[in-house]
Amino acid sequence: MLDNEWFEQYKIGVPLIDADHLNLFREVARFNEHLQSGMSAEDLGKSLNFLDKYVGAHFAREEMLMREKAYPYYTQHKTLHLQLKKVVFAVRRVFETDMEKVDKEKLHQFLRDWLIEHILKVDAKLVPYVNGAYSNDSRSVERLQFIGLSEEVTIDEELVAVTVKVPQSKQKVIERCAFALMHNTPEAQDLEEIALAATGMTIEEAMELAGAVLY
Ligand SMILES: [Fe+2]
Ligand SMILES: [Fe+2]
Repeated sequence: MLDNEWFEQYKIGVPLIDADHLNLFREVARFNEHLQSGMSAEDLGKSLNFLDKYVGAHFAREEMLMREKAYPYYTQHKTLHLQLKKVVFAVRRVFETDMEKVDKEKLHQFLRDWLIEHILKVDAKLVPYVNGAYSNDSRSVERLQFIGLSEEVTIDEELVAVTVKVPQSKQKVIERCAFALMHNTPEAQDLEEIALAATGMTIEEAMELAGAVLY
């Protein structure tokens, strides 16, 4: 059960970020309550809207903080944020097409797992950088040892050749974008988000991305 007392253990010690996390905990708790009492399509729609706004605003805040603090794992962290954003986007896309397809129980479990994993294993790594590099905050240091700071988050994918036709004047743009994507720079994540916002997602892509939370 997610409650305020339980949440205390998940505070990372950055008030702005903790306040955001608390809001997400509350939303997941509300989601659970709705599940118990029979969740309507309207409730689910509201939750998905909340999540969509939440991931946009909270992740942007965290990412700004990481840039300010020159956080060394910025790209890896941003990659994980983008993965969740895409899932939320995909679930909404499926919901808008066929609301019966979304398995609410699985979605609840997914959000709950993601929340715990991400806050404890990924967000917690920010603490020493935000509160002064590896500060004397022994609580944070203990926490980091507990979660294993050495655990790296990397993406390891095969490269594929893509042939596209663009106006000659845009050739350099495409080459630069390809470079950013190839090297997974922080801008690569921004490019992916821009592309998603510009062209949306096909229902097939959405079904695949949201597969874990569908019937
Ligand atoms: Fe977070
Ligand atoms: Fe995060």
